[in-house]
Amino acid sequence: MKMSAHILLLVLLSFTSSLTYAFDPSPLQDICVADLDSHVFVNGHVCKDPKLAKANDFFFKGLDKPGNTMNKVGSNVTQVTVAQIAGLNTLGISLVRIDFAPNGQNPPHTHPRATEILTVIEGTLFVGFVTSNQNNNRLISKVLHKGDVFVFPIGLIHFQVNIGHSNAVAIAGLSSQNPGVITIANAVFGSKPPISDDILAKAFQVDKKVIDHLQAQF
Ligand SMILES: *[C@@H]1O[C@H](CO)[C@@H](O)[C@H](O)[C@H]1NC(C)=O
Repeated sequence: MKMSAHILLLVLLSFTSSLTYAFDPSPLQDICVADLDSHVFVNGHVCKDPKLAKANDFFFKGLDKPGNTMNKVGSNVTQVTVAQIAGLNTLGISLVRIDFAPNGQNPPHTHPRATEILTVIEGTLFVGFVTSNQNNNRLISKVLHKGDVFVFPIGLIHFQVNIGHSNAVAIAGLSSQNPGVITIANAVFGSKPPISDDILAKAFQVDKKVIDHLQAQF
């Protein structure tokens, strides 16, 4: 009897883990406000005592403020993840504001843990994502105006470019408390220590000098 209960538990566990595969795990309690000072490493963050939770653990102020876009790419992402709202811990969701200068771009990047749904609040964006090798790296792109909504599926490389003559603003929801960002150019050409130019020259099918030039930009 005890043995079969164990087997049943194992089957249930493997079933639930396959259902939640590639997404943040479902919460097992009402609230689990992150204790960001804890030195215990768990998947996510340790919860602080729920009796000590307060409204400000679920609150962020300032998403009306534009980020400073005076940088090389002309964009700025203001994140509202579990690092900003401790109460997001275990809830599988977060938010960002993206500001774009004219001609600014949010360069090709991927979120390893989240699908993104974006809406344009101001301006005009050209956006797109590229499907995986299995689907022949197809570019799926669109011009978005104020009020338009677009989805970037989890893990896929995507970008947004301001093609209007004024600033642009977008708000996006992401399906993780901690979506993560891998900016392709920075990760490939700006890793520390660098990936050898021999490797990248073959990968990109160009002369090593081209790679050295690209690596020098990061
Ligand atoms: C984004 O804007 C904030 C607020 O103005 C600023 O502190 C930050 O340095 C900016 N980030 C980049 C990458 O420009």
